Amino acid sequence: MDRWQTIIEPFRIHSVEPIRMTTVAERERALEAAGWNLFNIHADDVLIDLLTDSGTGAMSRDQWAAVQHGDESYAGSPSWYRFLGAVQNLFPFKHVIPAHQGRAAEKILFSVIGGPGKLVPNNAHFDTTRANVEFTGAEAVDLTPPHDPHEILPFKGDMDVAALERVIEERGAEHIPVVFMTITNNSMGGQPVSMANLRAVSKVAHRHGLPLFLDACRFAENAWFIKQREDGYADVPVPDIVREMAALADGMTMSAKKDGLANIGGWLAMNDDALAEGCRNMLILTEGFPTYGGLAGRDLEAIAQGLEEVVEEDYLRYRIRSTAYLGEALDESGVPVIMPIGGHAVYLDARALLQHIPPLQYPGQSLSVALYREGGIRGCEIGTVMFGRHPDGTESPGPMDLVRLAIPRRTYTQSHIDYVIEVVRYVAARAADLRGFRIVREPPALRHFTARFEPLR
Ligand code: F0G
Repeated sequence: MDRWQTIIEPFRIHSVEPIRMTTVAERERALEAAGWNLFNIHADDVLIDLLTDSGTGAMSRDQWAAVQHGDESYAGSPSWYRFLGAVQNLFPFKHVIPAHQGRAAEKILFSVIGGPGKLVPNNAHFDTTRANVEFTGAEAVDLTPPHDPHEILPFKGDMDVAALERVIEERGAEHIPVVFMTITNNSMGGQPVSMANLRAVSKVAHRHGLPLFLDACRFAENAWFIKQREDGYADVPVPDIVREMAALADGMTMSAKKDGLANIGGWLAMNDDALAEGCRNMLILTEGFPTYGGLAGRDLEAIAQGLEEVVEEDYLRYRIRSTAYLGEALDESGVPVIMPIGGHAVYLDARALLQHIPPLQYPGQSLSVALYREGGIRGCEIGTVMFGRHPDGTESPGPMDLVRLAIPRRTYTQSHIDYVIEVVRYVAARAADLRGFRIVREPPALRHFTARFEPLR
């Protein structure tokens, strides 16, 4: 770049959404009514919504213009062809199957290739991916090696390749329908996966005759980290890095709500003809005709345009820097955060901050409730509430107890983030006053969305 250190938002604001200011007393009432589950809060009662970076980003002027080009023909819409071209430009898989979001693509794929006795290795399954694997009776295995959460390493999203070899040898390749790599690794802190690791995983999978699929939700952020951190990629254009990642794989699932820069959408893609046929048959049952999937023509247009914008370097530089700005400020003030800062979110280490709250009393829940009560900030527990309950109904501590502050794309400005820094510092300074929670009602799967809690005294 040039001489200036400040990385500015590479856009001006064109249409504004008001934020409704609330008081602590109002937020306490909202919490009680919501059973202390932040998924149950009315979004009008949230000041800064960092629940997710999924579908919450701002679309650009050119995306809104593309929406006007949406063609709603049932079959063969020009919007479909624009979408297909944009997807295959980055991910040149033979078959592209549009779906209304990432989990719909997962549901279709695993209902075709999953089933009892099968096993799916992944660097780390996201919660919906795990649930879709387990729903078919298959087993979901995570193979990110354990890391000190505060150690700075460039590619903490990588899979343990030796562990993959062991799993394939012990369980038998015939029981493994696919090997997955989640880029970036959301469950482990939004950490990137290196090209070297993808290459190694691809080699092992292919040596055993297994297909490699990418869960590519945050592919552009992952590519940017490769460009910044991996030898030999500094001068490679981001779209070429993406294509190189794609070339190591045999297919993908995608949520366009993340690096599609859209509010809804996703797809499933693969090279295998027979698998594509099985998936398309399922698509027609559950989502729609193969040239629109679960989407309107206007959604296909918005995604196609989003895929062009998301690989622009000015955008990615701002995106990754603005997430790091929040995380580094908290780290410097002594708040335990997962380091280094990932692409889409800052992960607060609630287990380290609230050592007086045991994991089965949900320190992550306690911290996320406190951030909402004090500052109207909505984050998301990623810990024992999300991962602690097993299909047989038993419970054990999740691998970590984190609160994720996910940053919607192109949505908040630096002063919003400065406010978040102030609130988190305030809550962290009073951590000793926080108490744990117990669950009073929960569903059998994905309990974090709908469980109701009660504070412990
Ligand atoms: N895979 C990963 C890695 C994800 O992060 C998500 C969604 C999905 C699959 C499913 O996609 O929501 O379009 O059905 N993650 C969101 C999040 C919800 O908040 O991290 P979806």
